[in-house]
Amino acid sequence: MEPAPSLAPVAALLGTWRGEGAGSYPTIEDFTYTDEVVFTDVGKPFLHYVQRSWSADGSPMHTETGYLRIPGAGTAELILAQPMGQTELAEGTVVAEADSLVLEFQARVANSATAKQVDATRRRYELTGDRLVTTFAMAAVGQPMTHHLHSDMRRV
Ligand code: HEM
Repeated sequence: MEPAPSLAPVAALLGTWRGEGAGSYPTIEDFTYTDEVVFTDVGKPFLHYVQRSWSADGSPMHTETGYLRIPGAGTAELILAQPMGQTELAEGTVVAEADSLVLEFQARVANSATAKQVDATRRRYELTGDRLVTTFAMAAVGQPMTHHLHSDMRRV
């Protein structure tokens, strides 16, 4: 089944991506992780998105899930649930060219009463051939917008 027409610009993301990542933030120790992202077509005008990560010893680290929508030409939305008590409403742009795809988002964040405070996030996904590179920054726990994550994945 073909994805919905609105998803044509991001159809190249469909499938499973896996690779290595590294993270930092001014308030924590640097770390590395294995990252996996899966985009699935469910037959509706959005892709389901799930991310999982593991430490070097195989222990689960972060996971998040949500939906990728392409509401209009050149625009993209990623609606995300975070297990640490946040939801992210990430809005931005999609630029699809012959051999590359770039998605950039800035998110408003809602925090539960018990969550560590995350005020805003920025995400970038760059697909070139079978390589997907992600970066993530956040304004959180009193820090201004600062880099937290970078991962470099291949299609599996
Ligand atoms: C691959 C994905 C991610 C990994 C591997 C990861 C890993 C980590 C690690 C190891 C820490 C320090 C220890 C801890 O508090 O658990 C941390 C802290 C934190 N992360 Fe992430 N993280 C990821 C994604 C995210 C995302 C998407 C957000 C926000 C939406 C986020 C927000 C935070 C916050 C608020 C802290 C606490 C900082 C502090 O207490 O000073 N992380 N993360």
